[in-house]
Amino acid sequence: MKLVELGSTGIRVSSIVLGTWQFGSATWGYGKGYSERDCMEAVWASVEAGVNLIDTAEVYGLGVSEQIIGKALKEVRDEVLIATKVAGHHLTYDGVLKACERSLNRLGLKMIDLYQVHFPNPLIPIGQTMKAMEKLVKDGKIRHIGVSNFSLGRLIKAREALKSEDVVSNQVRYNLLQRQIEKELLPYCVREKITILAYSPLAQGVLTGKYSADNLPKDLVRTVNPLVSSSYLRRAKPLLDELRRIAAEVNATMAQVALAWLVSKPYVAAIAGAKNRQQALENAAAGKITLTDKQIEYISSLSRQLRPNFLDGVRSFVRVVAR
Ligand SMILES: NC(=O)c1ccc[n+]([C@@H]2O[C@H](COP(=O)([O-])OP(=O)(O)OC[C@H]3O[C@@H](n4cnc5c(N)ncnc54)[C@H](OP(=O)(O)O)[C@@H]3O)[C@@H](O)[C@H]2O)c1
Repeated sequence: MKLVELGSTGIRVSSIVLGTWQFGSATWGYGKGYSERDCMEAVWASVEAGVNLIDTAEVYGLGVSEQIIGKALKEVRDEVLIATKVAGHHLTYDGVLKACERSLNRLGLKMIDLYQVHFPNPLIPIGQTMKAMEKLVKDGKIRHIGVSNFSLGRLIKAREALKSEDVVSNQVRYNLLQRQIEKELLPYCVREKITILAYSPLAQGVLTGKYSADNLPKDLVRTVNPLVSSSYLRRAKPLLDELRRIAAEVNATMAQVALAWLVSKPYVAAIAGAKNRQQALENAAAGKITLTDKQIEYISSLSRQLRPNFLDGVRSFVRVVAR
């Protein structure tokens, strides 16, 4: 498994991280096609396959994701690091301290390895939030501070607000089809040694190749994603066909090629969401695949040709209203 340094901490995390928004989340269809047992098996399978970081958040499944991880961890705690997030509406000084306590309880831990601010909240001064984060480090409740969904400007302000610590990671959306961070955030983070934890690395399943204009997932999460629309998938077909061809060439699946492309970049780890053991194992195995420079550049050039447009967004809005 390829490893990536977490900020300048010296800690090396697996380039494939297990994402657990799916755990306990009705919006992803939890309880219909997959169960608590499937989620726990995804945790164990990931660890077995060399994944040493699991990402969750207090809001995932309204706390159920953290609870499931807590339960699964009883068997594997020593081998794995835990990252969770404080919600954007809990960012006052007291709000952060209390949210952390609740997450520790649900996870059954004494310390969280990486505590992240889930979304910036323009109504609460970042200084207040970061003061609480530093107190949590001092009190031994959290090991490191991260942020999520922070633009370059907000990331710089968050770092300036810290006195004795630094931000070690920024968790943002990044995949072959959504590469906006490459413009300024990614180069800054590489330069400053802040790890990018890339979420939705499979574009919520689009890059696995299993969805098409005639076969769309039905859950609420994907209904609101403009990429998971018949119009976008129709336009994306040539690119997905090509990705399928490359996958066959390297004896891997499309999902693995999409993940391997992401983690070929310095200071990037991919948080792949999984609903069961099989997905977790397949994703983890992508951390062992090395693409050639030629393959990486070819895949990059293909993906540059495709962008979601305004109409994809309108169509997904119509699908939500029509549900
Ligand atoms: N910080 C944030 O604001 C934020 C936002 C989003 C996500 N995240 C984090 O990032 C993680 C991943 O992002 P994501 O869940 O949005 O998207 P993702 O990882 O791109 O896609 C996950 C979905 O793809 C399908 N899948 C996964 N592995 C597969 C495989 N090997 N073969 C076939 N299908 C597979 C599964 O759904 P189906 O089987 O139903 O297709 C799974 O639910 C989340 O779990 C969460 O931890 C954070």
